Amino acid sequence: MITIISGTNRPGSSTLKLAKYYQKQLQQKGGEAGLLSLSQLPASLITSDLYGKRSDEFLPLQDIVTQTDKFLFLIPEYNGSFPGVLKVFIDACSFPESFYEKKAALVGLSSGKYGNIRGIDHFTGICNYVHLHVLPLKIHIAAINKELDADGNLFNKDTVQFTNEQIDKFIAF
Ligand SMILES: Cc1cc2nc3c(=O)[nH]c(=O)nc-3n(C[C@H](O)[C@H](O)[C@H](O)COP(=O)(O)O)c2cc1C
Repeated sequence: MITIISGTNRPGSSTLKLAKYYQKQLQQKGGEAGLLSLSQLPASLITSDLYGKRSDEFLPLQDIVTQTDKFLFLIPEYNGSFPGVLKVFIDACSFPESFYEKKAALVGLSSGKYGNIRGIDHFTGICNYVHLHVLPLKIHIAAINKELDADGNLFNKDTVQFTNEQIDKFIAF
C-alpha cells in the first residue's frame, strides 16, 4: 500500500495541494495511494502519543503507517529544514516496525529559492536511521506559489517532467 504524507499541519498549506496533485498523478499511472495529512494528527499528540503512550485518536493513523510499504513524503521548508511536526509524527509512530525496511520517495517545496534541499537532506538522515529506503530521485520545488495553478495542478514544463519521472520511478521502486 502507498501512502502520501503531507508533511505539515499548517491550515491552507501548499504541501497538501501538492500532495493531492501527486495522488491524482499516481492514480492515473495505476499507483493507488492514500493521503495522510499531518493536519489529521490529534492536537494532544505531544502529551498523548510519545514515549510509549498511544491514544485512541492516533490508532487509526498508526494502522495506516503499519499497513503502508511505500511512503511519499511532501515536505515544506520551515526555517531551513523540515517541519518540527513531521519529526514529532515520526517519533510518535511505533518503532522500529513503522518504517523498517520499507520504501520512501521525498519531495521538498518552499516559497523561497531552494525547494527545501537542506530539509530533505536532514530528513534523509532520519530515513537512513529507521531503515527506510529512499528513492534516489528527490524533487525540490522552489517558489511553489508560481508552480500551482488555480486548480492545484503543476503546469511548468520542467516541473511536470521531473515529477512524472519521480512518480514512474516510485511506482517501479
Ligand atoms: C514556520 C515556517 C517557516 C518557514 N521557513 C521557510 C524557509 O526557511 N525557507 C523558505 O523558502 N520558506 C519558508 N517558509 C515558507 C514555506 O516554504 C511556504 O509556506 C510554502 O508554501 C510551503 O509551506 P506550506 O505547505 O506551509 O504552504 C516557512 C513557512 C513557515 C510556516
